Amino acid sequence: MSQRVKIKALLQSQQTDIDVTVKGWVRAFRSNRFIALNDGSTNNNIQIVVDFENTDPALLKRITVGAALSVGGKLVASQGKGQTVEVIATDIEILGDSDPEKYPIQPKKHSLEFLRENAHLRFRTSTFGAIFRVRNSLAFAVHQFFQERGFVYLHTPVITASDAEGAGETFHVTNFDLDNIPKTDTGEIDFKQDFFGRPTNLTVSGQLEGELGAMALSDIYTFGPTFRAENSNTTRHLAEFWMIEPEVAFSDLNDNMDLAEDMLKYVIRYTLDKNADDIEFLTQRLAEEEKQKPQNERSEMTLLKKLQFCLTHDFERLTYTEAIEILKESTPNKKKKFQYPIEGWGTDLQSEHERYLVEKHFKKPVILTDYPKEIKAFYMRQNDDGKTVAAMDILFPGIGEIVGGSQREERLSNLEQRMDEMGIPKDELWWYLDTRRFGACPHAGFGLGFERLVLFVTGMGNIRDVIPFPRFPKNAEF
Ligand code: 4AD
Ligand code: MG
Repeated sequence: MSQRVKIKALLQSQQTDIDVTVKGWVRAFRSNRFIALNDGSTNNNIQIVVDFENTDPALLKRITVGAALSVGGKLVASQGKGQTVEVIATDIEILGDSDPEKYPIQPKKHSLEFLRENAHLRFRTSTFGAIFRVRNSLAFAVHQFFQERGFVYLHTPVITASDAEGAGETFHVTNFDLDNIPKTDTGEIDFKQDFFGRPTNLTVSGQLEGELGAMALSDIYTFGPTFRAENSNTTRHLAEFWMIEPEVAFSDLNDNMDLAEDMLKYVIRYTLDKNADDIEFLTQRLAEEEKQKPQNERSEMTLLKKLQFCLTHDFERLTYTEAIEILKESTPNKKKKFQYPIEGWGTDLQSEHERYLVEKHFKKPVILTDYPKEIKAFYMRQNDDGKTVAAMDILFPGIGEIVGGSQREERLSNLEQRMDEMGIPKDELWWYLDTRRFGACPHAGFGLGFERLVLFVTGMGNIRDVIPFPRFPKNAEF
């Protein structure tokens, strides 16, 4: 048997009248004659032409939607419309049957909710094929971007004893028998008897360890899973998500913004180029979905236009203070249309405010800087005004916050003072503070929520649809 050729390569083949072997899953079978076969290399199916008069009827019956086939035959120029080549089958082998009565994925439109419940099979639909190929390209492009710039990919721990963001949203890690948790004489949980001899949790961010690496390797990035037990049942939050966190020595907030903007443009450009077909497919999908909405809720740009727009425009940069002024004066605030009215300087921005700035006011990605220190993490560098920190959040249309980062507080006494104020245990973070004791230098970094990026690039509306098996409150199926 000749070697398997991927369908994407076959469809692009310049050569015809050659013997080929192709393997994949049946997407459709019509007139007992034409199989649409797909192997996930592209959304386009290869048409297999079956000589049904000379094929065993028992075999024909087993060519059902979802079945896995191996087909040997001749690749020829197609007579029909819709494809340039097709395979005239000489040999069909059923590798795996699929009972058409029971197979959940039918050749029709299924709702995204239904497909989420069948996440183990949703890869086999065109939408999810496109999404996960785009996700793959974005991940590869992230690595390529940083590797081209000499960054070192650093693996930070998944199990840790610290809560980097200090938000108390960690998942505990223990191997205690939960029915019989050891207690101390005073009745507290005796973590000395636990696996690590202390309380531990899944990481919420690799940043603190990343900073340690940057203080020697200069430019590092992490790209790994992070976990947050925030009980947010939104279309933007997952309990398990992937984060990219570069950390750069000898770098300030401006360098940090430049790096983040360059990175986002680079990975979007790479994917637009590499996955043109998939982006085209997803653009059509979104256009169809938008048609269901009332006119005034439809977006002005198609997905493709939105992505291109993002590449050709500088992100708008302004301070939190300037943003608050804009929001205070905005029509929705004056007409009390915001669910959370802008109380004044110091209030945390909600997603509705971020999206107003991006989608209505500036109509492009926005970078907000210099937030009040009270609403940001302890490690951010304190500004001279005594009120704000050198933070930056990047806000994207339809998404809100996609990146959060800052210049770091490298001055030991300032950092210790802030940790005391915020109740962050200094003794537990002795190793973090050591970098401020030995060769501290200005440095900065950020975290990109990978699924929020995939959400933006695919034009999907729910973050649960851009990770293969989403974890969210009350759901850990698969
Ligand atoms: O803004 P965050 O909390 O920042 C940090 O964790 C810093 N340690 C990053 C750094 O400076 N190295 O999270 C960073 C990004 C957010 O902007 C958002 O895109 C994403 O992570 N994110 C989530 N994505 C999905 N589900 C959640 N529950 C998320 N929480 C944050
Ligand atoms: Mg944030």
